Amino acid sequence: MKILVLYYSRTGNTEKMANAIAEGAKSVSNVEVELSYHIPAEDFKKFDAVIVGAPTYHHDMAIDTKKLFEEAAEKGINLKGKVGAAFGSYGWSGEAPKLVIEIMKNKFEMQVAEPPLLARYMPDQNTLSTCRNLGKRVAEKLIRVA
Ligand SMILES: Cc1cc2nc3c(=O)[nH]c(=O)nc-3n(C[C@H](O)[C@H](O)[C@H](O)COP(=O)(O)O)c2cc1C
Repeated sequence: MKILVLYYSRTGNTEKMANAIAEGAKSVSNVEVELSYHIPAEDFKKFDAVIVGAPTYHHDMAIDTKKLFEEAAEKGINLKGKVGAAFGSYGWSGEAPKLVIEIMKNKFEMQVAEPPLLARYMPDQNTLSTCRNLGKRVAEKLIRVA
């Protein structure tokens, strides 16, 4: 079972969440976790679950993240049925992870974990613990359905 934790982060807040999610997922045996900032769209196919970290900038996700989804759609990469989740740091509106969930669900027909996990600016210990739990939950879900 392979999980991708793919994130963007400009000031490190979403990165802290990504690290905690990867740590939680790695705590489950028989699960391989890749933590990455960027992958070629074709590589989505290698994973059973994709957890995307998207901080909100200008009420949107980062252009890199959007481009990656666009590229995957253009190339007809099939993500149907794969497990998806989203998270991200925000300041006041936090749209980005919700947009990611919509794309995963409506465009790629992934099986998504809702609602997305949000942290206001820097994640505190409590939020990081929730992040570890999300990683663990996604990994355990994969093991259950295997
Ligand atoms: C130029 C700029 C635009 C931003 N726009 C938004 C926004 O539209 N909505 C929001 O909730 N937060 C917004 N923020 C706040 C960031 O989401 C917040 O600082 C977050 O912690 C950044 O995460 P990162 O450290 O992972 O990059 C903005 C921050 C900057 C610097």
